[in-house]
Amino acid sequence: MSNILFVALSFGLLALATGDHPLSWYRDFQEVQYGGVPATRNDERAYRLPMTVVPLDYDIYLDLFFAERTDRPFSYDGSVDIVIQAKAENVNQIVLHANVDTIRDVKLKNLAGAEVGLKPHETEPLYHFLKVNVENPLTPNVNYTLHIEYSSTMNEGPMKRGIWRGWYLDENKVERIYATTHFQPYNARQAFPCWDEPFFKAVFKVHISRPSGYTGVFSNTVNTGNVTLPNNRVRTDFAATPEMSSYLVTFLVSETFQVIAEDTSFKPPIRIIGRSNTDGLADHVLELAVKMTEFFDNYFGIPYATLHPNLLNDHVSSPDWASAGTENWGMVSYRELYMIINKNETIMSIEHYAATLVSHELAHKWFGNLITCYWWSNTWINEGYASYFGYIATHAMFPEYELPDHFNNRYLQTSLAFDSSRTTVPLNHEVNTPLQVTGHFGTISYSKAASFVRMTANIMSLETFQKSCRLFLLENPYKPTDQFDLLKAMNDAILDDNSLAIYPGFNFSEYYRIWVNEPGYPILTVNIDYDTGYMDLKQERFFLNPNEQTTEQVYPIPITYTTSRNADFSNLRPSQMMTTDSTRIEKSPGEEWVIFNIQQQGHYRVNYNKRNWELISDALLNNPNSIHYLNRAQIVDDVFALMRSERITIEFALHILKFLAKETNNHVWEPAISGFNWLRARIRHIPEKQAEFDAYILAQMEHAITTLGFEPKDGETPTVTMARQSILHFACLLGHEKCIQESWDRFSNWRINNTPVNSRVRRNVYVTGMREGDREDFDFLLSKFRDSNYANDQLEMLRGLGATKDPELLTRFLQLTLTKEVRSHDKLNTFNYALLGNQENYKTVMQFVKDNINAIRTEYVEDSPARPVHSALSNLAGYMDEPALVEYEAWLNEQPNLPQLATVKSSIDSARSNMAWGTANVDKIIAATKSSATTTVTSLFMLVAMTVLLQIV
Ligand SMILES: *[C@@H]1O[C@H](CO)[C@@H](O)[C@H](O)[C@H]1NC(C)=O
Ligand SMILES: *[C@@H]1O[C@H](CO)[C@@H](O)[C@H](O)[C@H]1NC(C)=O
Ligand SMILES: *[C@@H]1O[C@H](CO)[C@@H](O)[C@H](O)[C@H]1NC(C)=O
Ligand SMILES: *[C@@H]1O[C@H](CO)[C@@H](O)[C@H](O)[C@H]1NC(C)=O
Ligand SMILES: [Zn+2]
Repeated sequence: MSNILFVALSFGLLALATGDHPLSWYRDFQEVQYGGVPATRNDERAYRLPMTVVPLDYDIYLDLFFAERTDRPFSYDGSVDIVIQAKAENVNQIVLHANVDTIRDVKLKNLAGAEVGLKPHETEPLYHFLKVNVENPLTPNVNYTLHIEYSSTMNEGPMKRGIWRGWYLDENKVERIYATTHFQPYNARQAFPCWDEPFFKAVFKVHISRPSGYTGVFSNTVNTGNVTLPNNRVRTDFAATPEMSSYLVTFLVSETFQVIAEDTSFKPPIRIIGRSNTDGLADHVLELAVKMTEFFDNYFGIPYATLHPNLLNDHVSSPDWASAGTENWGMVSYRELYMIINKNETIMSIEHYAATLVSHELAHKWFGNLITCYWWSNTWINEGYASYFGYIATHAMFPEYELPDHFNNRYLQTSLAFDSSRTTVPLNHEVNTPLQVTGHFGTISYSKAASFVRMTANIMSLETFQKSCRLFLLENPYKPTDQFDLLKAMNDAILDDNSLAIYPGFNFSEYYRIWVNEPGYPILTVNIDYDTGYMDLKQERFFLNPNEQTTEQVYPIPITYTTSRNADFSNLRPSQMMTTDSTRIEKSPGEEWVIFNIQQQGHYRVNYNKRNWELISDALLNNPNSIHYLNRAQIVDDVFALMRSERITIEFALHILKFLAKETNNHVWEPAISGFNWLRARIRHIPEKQAEFDAYILAQMEHAITTLGFEPKDGETPTVTMARQSILHFACLLGHEKCIQESWDRFSNWRINNTPVNSRVRRNVYVTGMREGDREDFDFLLSKFRDSNYANDQLEMLRGLGATKDPELLTRFLQLTLTKEVRSHDKLNTFNYALLGNQENYKTVMQFVKDNINAIRTEYVEDSPARPVHSALSNLAGYMDEPALVEYEAWLNEQPNLPQLATVKSSIDSARSNMAWGTANVDKIIAATKSSATTTVTSLFMLVAMTVLLQIV
């Protein structure tokens, strides 16, 4: 999956939709911990199928009914023939998954086609098990055919996955309904009874019958024919798939979906499929799909065309999708937001994300589909590799996006932030229940895994890494794999190239074992004796919570460093592997700064003795470009974490960060904005102090705002455009006068003179237009939202509308989330936009929640895997002051049966402890801004003086 990635990177709000990118959460909130406190491990194992019977081949017949079937609208009847074999003696029960409304018939035939005697079958709804009991044990290793007939209902909207229906307006504004599937990770069982675990690979032949007007019919493989049926229906047959896991089966049935862009010079042709009124709007993603297919063909040495003769290379743009994209083999589906990319209508962060997403999903054709994790405990192999390639490989074809640089904030820093609590889990982590499985599709399996893959590639060299990928694929095609198969391929490649010879005594298997199977990561503490040149290194597991006791765990750390006098930020190959808890390295004597973890490629944090921090801080102020921007970004990210874990004081942290006053680089500002937001959120309840702090932040940002300006400049890089996008959005929120004025001018020019707003600055313009505007402005933007044919622009407009300060308009806005105008997958984001838009909005949001809780629970689909209602109600608490929390709590106490109660109450506790932290530290924060601001002025003055001198020379 590509967990949808960034719908929105806004002020600590990451709406994550990775390919099967799904979640959204606040970066400094814990991801919801799934699974609660049930059951022992053995009880949870009960969710897993026995291995005694395996499927080889499925013929799936599905009859889809839409509104024309009045007794059971939007339903389906199915029958499936599954060729199975027993793999043990004395098997008299066949256990498989089925999660359908009604099982109508079950039969079993032997190889000769004769019926085998059955006893009544059983179902176990908790586990979604169908248990077929045979009268006499099955003969092992001999084919039987299991025939099952059943009926079920489409889900409404994408959130619950399975077979579901979505909607769109066609070119005549007529509403159309389409049906499609999203099975990852455990929802194929809603479409047809099956062995719905990735381990059980088999061949699938899909046959779909539908009303004859539904001519847009697509699936994983080529369609082999149409059969006319009675009642104005047609059956379309699709060719056999390769051997693959059940979650990769898919189809889409619609009235007007068609090919909207294609490149027929490939075999199979590369096609983008979408609703007819997006025809011609997908050329950009077509180019992404074409170039990345070419890239992976070469990189893996196994061309796409050779994967299987029947397989397509289709990419579907779906108006509704629960994640960002899902890698169904031959037919990837994406949320339309990421498919219809037009420079005139799309903000840069979405265009940027689309490049990584298409590549992520294509990488899955090999890592995920050709080889598959044998069980979701190992999902990091699928997702970590796809995420790594989504950035690192895409760079080879689309260097303009500078993706390796963005990797750090997107994956590494996200992982370092998340992976620093006592409850974090290792990459390889046992999961069993559906909730646990869903929960493992999160930061660890994507961000930490991708960071681990990159760190490992640097250690063994990129050439050896490529070889290990090829070996892994060549040795395990069409098979489920586990971490040991991957380790073997890596060890074989390393041995072949002798590529670890520069690390004598380094045990790669042990490195892999620890990083894959132990939780957390280390902080490296460096203590430099400038007289002798001795650098004493110590490591311990990093916990963000200062009260947490560290553990004995030692992590193998790839060491890279550079020094002021011999500064070299380009060599990413570690000079050595640190495999003990402490060690000493020597540099030449003399006082100079030293920086470890070059370009922040290693998954660890670094702290230094005070003198070294001072030297770094001086260099950052006086000669910032002497330190690579990714290390400036690392320093910002580490400094906030060191401050939060009380390893350095707030004052010292802000002292080191003084250099931001001269910083314009996107990568440096991303962690800075996150860090400042973390602090701001903790003093929100003391408005006059927060205002002082905001003024300080704005002073720090002034230079960046001035340098970036309010309009994109010709020929600037996408990264610069993204810097402007996030910095202006933040500056306008904090009340920067010029930002507000410039944004407002653009908004009113659009409304009054119909002058289009450059797509790349729409975020700050829409948001400011609503914050500063009135009812007419709101109605204007709402009507634009309703007219737009661009999912991205619509989403930006929703974000804008949520920033209205008028309680009545905000209530109207929130009520939109209870209608289908706000798509299910956008409802939680939209709710969050109301909270993010203005500090005071939480009051209106709380009233809306109280008045509409039942509708929210239904319309936001509370029982979908992403648990959007849990998130919405918890997020709300994070914006409240104490009186509001008391009111919220009182109301919650009147809702004893609310399923979200425990989660929301714990978010109220967090909100209180955040405020308590703020109350205890606010004076230190404000004092630190003062001492740091004064020095900034001096040094800026000095810099001006120096510049003048230099010019004279
Ligand atoms: C058993 O089923 C598999 C998969 O359909 C098929 O390839 C194989 O030929 C069958 N074996 C026999 C003996 O029919
Ligand atoms: C079957 O019908 C669909 C929809 O009309 C069409 O796109 C497809 O080409 C047909 N398949 C064959 C093999 O004729
Ligand atoms: C963007 O707008 C310009 C000016 O209206 C137009 O010439 C250009 O074709 C548009 N580009 C795209 C990709 O639609
Ligand atoms: C290397 O580490 C692995 C895994 O921890 C271990 O099984 C093996 O014995 C180690 N090899 C050596 C030479 O120490
Ligand atoms: Zn993925």
